This record gives sequence, C-alpha cells and structure tokens, in this order.
Amino acid sequence: REDVLLCFYSIDPMEGEALVIKCPKWSSSVKVTWYRLDTNKIIPAEEEGSRVFSIERFLWFLPTSREDSGNYTCSNNRTKSYNVSVQVHSYKPGECFQSDSLPNATGRGKIVCPTLITIECYYCPDCKPLQGQRFFKKEKYIYIENPRREDDGYYTCQFIYTHKGNVFNVSATRIFISEVKYSPLPPQIIFPKNKEVIEAELGAALSLKCQARLGIKKQPLAAVRWDVDNIPVKSLACSRFREETHFSFEGHEHVYYEETTLNITEIKKEDLQSNFTCIALNTMYNTRVTVTLQLRAQAKAALPNVLLIAASLVLLGAIAISVLLYQSFRADIVLLYREIFQPYSLKDDGKIYDAYVIYPKNHANEANFVEYFVYQIMPEILENKCGYKLCIYGRDIYPGEDAASAVEKRMQKSRRLIILLTQQLIHSKEDAYDQHIALHDALIQNGTKVILLEMETIGTYGNLQESLQFIIKQQGTIKWKEEHTVHPQSPNSRFWKQVRCQMPLTHRSSCSANTR
Ligand SMILES: *[C@@H]1O[C@H](CO)[C@@H](O)[C@H](O)[C@H]1NC(C)=O
Ligand SMILES: *[C@@H]1O[C@H](CO)[C@@H](O)[C@H](O)[C@H]1NC(C)=O
Ligand SMILES: *[C@@H]1O[C@H](CO)[C@@H](O)[C@H](O)[C@H]1NC(C)=O
Ligand SMILES: *[C@@H]1O[C@H](CO)[C@@H](O)[C@H](O)[C@H]1NC(C)=O
Ligand SMILES: *[C@@H]1O[C@H](CO)[C@@H](O)[C@H](O)[C@H]1NC(C)=O
Ligand SMILES: *[C@@H]1O[C@H](CO)[C@@H](O)[C@H](O)[C@H]1NC(C)=O
Ligand SMILES: *[C@@H]1O[C@H](CO)[C@@H](O)[C@H](O)[C@H]1NC(C)=O
Repeated sequence: REDVLLCFYSIDPMEGEALVIKCPKWSSSVKVTWYRLDTNKIIPAEEEGSRVFSIERFLWFLPTSREDSGNYTCSNNRTKSYNVSVQVHSYKPGECFQSDSLPNATGRGKIVCPTLITIECYYCPDCKPLQGQRFFKKEKYIYIENPRREDDGYYTCQFIYTHKGNVFNVSATRIFISEVKYSPLPPQIIFPKNKEVIEAELGAALSLKCQARLGIKKQPLAAVRWDVDNIPVKSLACSRFREETHFSFEGHEHVYYEETTLNITEIKKEDLQSNFTCIALNTMYNTRVTVTLQLRAQAKAALPNVLLIAASLVLLGAIAISVLLYQSFRADIVLLYREIFQPYSLKDDGKIYDAYVIYPKNHANEANFVEYFVYQIMPEILENKCGYKLCIYGRDIYPGEDAASAVEKRMQKSRRLIILLTQQLIHSKEDAYDQHIALHDALIQNGTKVILLEMETIGTYGNLQESLQFIIKQQGTIKWKEEHTVHPQSPNSRFWKQVRCQMPLTHRSSCSANTR
C-alpha cells in the first residue's frame, strides 16, 4: 500500500511491539536487501519462529526488542540505499513514549496514523483516549476539528496486528503542530442574553450591542448582525435603525470576537412589540439571540411619580400655609371659637382676677410709656372692652400694705400672670422679687399661665432668669411693636388678639370695639 508511509528516517518503536519498516520503491522489479549496518548482516526472509525478518521491501520485527536498536539499510544493489535508524524504547505500562525524532504532523487537523487498521488513538503525554466531538478517527487518520494551539502535542495511534495467529501491539506517535492561520469556532453570542428584556424610553435613542465569539484569529467569513422582526437591519429602509461599524478584537488565545451595535435613533411605541435578533455566523453555522424592549420602569412610573411629587408638594405647601395661617391667625381662630361656642359654664375657681400684671415700677417721677400702657391702655382694652379683671400693683395694691404678702395673695387669686418684659424689669432687683414669686407660683404651685408681653426688644434672652427663658422657649412672647402705638386702643389689633387669646375665658364672648 503506497499511501501508507511506514518508512522513517528514524523510528522509535516501543519494546515488544510489532514494527514494519518499508523500503522505498525504486523500481517495481528490483529486489531489495535489508542489512543491519553495524553488523553488516543481511536480514533473512521469514522462517518458522523468526522474530526479525524481511519480506520483499519490508523489514519486520515481531516483536521488537531492546537489542534491535541500530541502523538498518535497504539496498537494491548497493548503489541505491536507504538508511533507517531504529531506537527501541523500553516498555512502560500505561505510558506513551515521546520522541522528537518523529516527523511532525502539521497542518489543518489531519494526523495520519502509520497503520491500516486504527483501533485506538491516544493523546499523549497523558495517554488518554481522545475524547470530545472535535476528534474523530476515520481509517488511518485522526481528524481534529478546528485545531487550535492547545491541540498541539503527541498523538499516538495504537492497534493490534495479528501475524500467523500471533497478536502484536503496534503503536505509533506523531507530533501535531497546528499551523492554522485562523479557524472557526461554533459561534457563540456573549451578549445580550436570549430573551433579555431591555429597558427603553419612548423618544429616546438606544444602542443594542451584540458581541459574539466566532473563532481563532480573525475570521474572513464571519459576521454579527441585527435583524428587526426577522428583517436584516441593513436591508431595512428605515433611518431609525442603523448598524454601526463592526468592532472586532482577538482575546485570550487568539479567540476572535466581533461586536455589532444596533443604533435606534428614536424609540417608538411599535418597537416595544418588535423582536430584535442578533445573529452570529461563520463557516460552521449561525446562532441567534432575540431581545425585546420594554418601557423603563421609571419611565412608566414617571407620570404617577410626577403627580405624586406634585401632590405631595401641594399638600406640604398647604400644610405649611395652614401652619403659617394658624400661626398668624391662631388668636383669631381661638377667639372665633370662643365667640361661636360661648362658654357660659365657667366654674367658680375661687379666683378674683383674670390676670395679675407685673411691670417695672417707675421710681423716676416722669411718666413713661410702660406705665401709660399698664394704667391706661391695658385696662381700657382688657377691662373696659373685653370684660377682664386685672390686678395692677399701684392701682389695686396700694403702697403701704404689706407688699410682699399682698402681692403673693393677689397673684394666687389671679388666673394669669402678665409680665411686661422691659430692659428695666430684667435688671431691677425689686421687680426680680415680684417676678420670682410669680414665676415660682405659676410654674410650680398653681400652674398659672404666664403671658409675656415683650414691650421693648430684649434681644437675646440669655440675661433673663431661667424660669423666664423656659417660658419663652415654651410659648414665646407677644411683641408690642411700634405699629401698635398707632391704634393701640383696638382690641382687634393683632397684639391684643394674641393677648386675649392667652387670657382665660370670659362671660363676654367678644370685646366691644367701642369705648364704653
Ligand atoms: C546510526 O547512524 C547514525 C548516523 O547515521 C549514528 O549517529 C548512530 O550512532 C548509528 N547508530 C548505531 C546504533 O550504530
Ligand atoms: C544494480 O544496479 C545496476 C545499475 O545501477 C543494475 O544494472 C543491476 O542489475 C542491479 N543489480 C541488482 C541485483 O538488482
Ligand atoms: C547509509 O549508511 C551507510 C553507512 O553509514 C553510508 O555509506 C550510506 O551512504 C548511507 N546512505 C544514505 C542514503 O545515507
Ligand atoms: C517539528 O516541530 C518542532 C517544534 O515545533 C520543530 O522545531 C521542528 O522543526 C519540526 N520538524 C519538522 C520536520 O517540521
Ligand atoms: C498490548 O498493549 C496493551 C496495553 O496497551 C497490553 O495490555 C497488552 O498486554 C499488550 N499486548 C501485548 C501482546 O503485548
Ligand atoms: C417575536 O417572537 C415571538 C417569539 O419568538 C413571536 O411569538 C412573535 O410573533 C414575534 N414578533 C414579531 C413581531 O415577529
Ligand atoms: C450610534 O449612537 C451613538 C450614540 O448613542 C453615536 O455616537 C453613534 O455615532 C451612532 N452610530 C450610528 C452609525 O448612528
């Protein structure tokens, strides 16, 4: 069989195996003779029981032995010769021998096995049977589909040769070195994932990227493309869809990828019903993934969100305005309430006065505004117009009485304490005494409500005694402003409304606007 090349310049057989060496055919009729060079002995023809013999052009070792290692030559008439070096390797069970002297099997994935009958092929050095769909045996060949660099190595094919009833192992090993410039791999789309749902926004642009693995090294016959509802984007007469220039790169181990981007300039409603299919193809076959679009969750919720936020803002605004209104018109509201639900059922609480008024006593002889306020304005509004009964020192308590005990008794008989805050009051020791009793009384014993009228701007309240600071923190002060001096006589001015609001209920539901 001419197509089986059994003759090597160098042969590395395994000890104990069958070996056949073929002499080149110089001419059909010529008889050749095999010699062993070192001994110069002719290899005889086969006889009964002979181990090394020649049959025509073939030199047989059935089986090989370590001592067969040596140089052999075949010659027709000693003018033409062919030398073969034989190196018999000792047999090690389960081990495939390796030899650098074997000719390399290079190329596109076909390794010829130097036999006619291939029974089993092993991949060395692991000596494992070839596994996987990429390897298959046919006749004397091992085929490697799409060979890559990691396929490089020793391939041993092993078979059994039976000669006159004797069974011999035969194995032969080839080095395989891939010489592929490029080779396809089954196309595999890296992204997107099949059936992926991609979020989109109506009217917005969208880029869909598709990346696929296509082979080893740059593939001349491969593509990654997009279809919209099974129509290639390239053939779509639609300016909204455009395929971007292909982008390709070689990754690890020369693995070749291509990426194609589908540009959608403006997402329309109908796109949400479309199938966007990425197809990756090479010489092997093609694979595809399909993605669809859906409105972005945020976009879907955008309108309700906006409404919600708007509603919240409106509500907050309303609350803020209500609070402001209430702050501004709290007095009016309370007074209105009192007016509507005229509370006639006032219990007798044993008090005589509605309020005890604490104010800084003027020791100078000239009149000042605070005294005018205490003696004129306040009684006019609260007593004459609104019907309250006040206890004012100097008017209701006369000097000469036992001031301290009198003050204390009157305060206990008062429902409110009105304290006029002025710079003088803060710094006066005498007033501080009054204040102290009053506040102690109000805060600790009776729980009498205190009304603070800030007659002059106090500024920081840090100079005030702690109990006053506490009350200010709790309820604030009612500020007498310059504007009130214009119409101080109106009980419906903001200042007097605030004061009335903090005053106890009266039998009179409202204050008369006119002077009695
Ligand atoms: C066989 O011949 C080669 C050179 O052709 C030589 O180097 C080698 O030593 C020879 N082997 C034996 C066993 O004589
Ligand atoms: C050897 O070769 C010569 C010519 O090269 C030829 O004439 C002769 O017949 C050959 N001898 C044998 C035994 O084949
Ligand atoms: C084979 O070896 C012999 C002896 O070493 C040498 O004379 C002869 O030229 C060699 N033949 C070839 C073809 O190399
Ligand atoms: C076989 O492969 C080795 C390793 O790549 C290389 O060095 C050698 O030249 C090759 N031999 C032949 C005959 O191609
Ligand atoms: C052939 O090789 C196998 C292992 O590969 C071994 O089990 C068997 O004994 C060998 N047969 C002969 C005749 O050496
Ligand atoms: C999209 O694909 C689905 C499932 O493959 C199919 O049922 C549907 O008809 C396709 N839609 C269009 C517009 O081609
Ligand atoms: C695709 O869209 C990107 C921006 O999303 C843009 O930079 C690019 O130029 C577009 N390509 C084509 C071919 O329209």
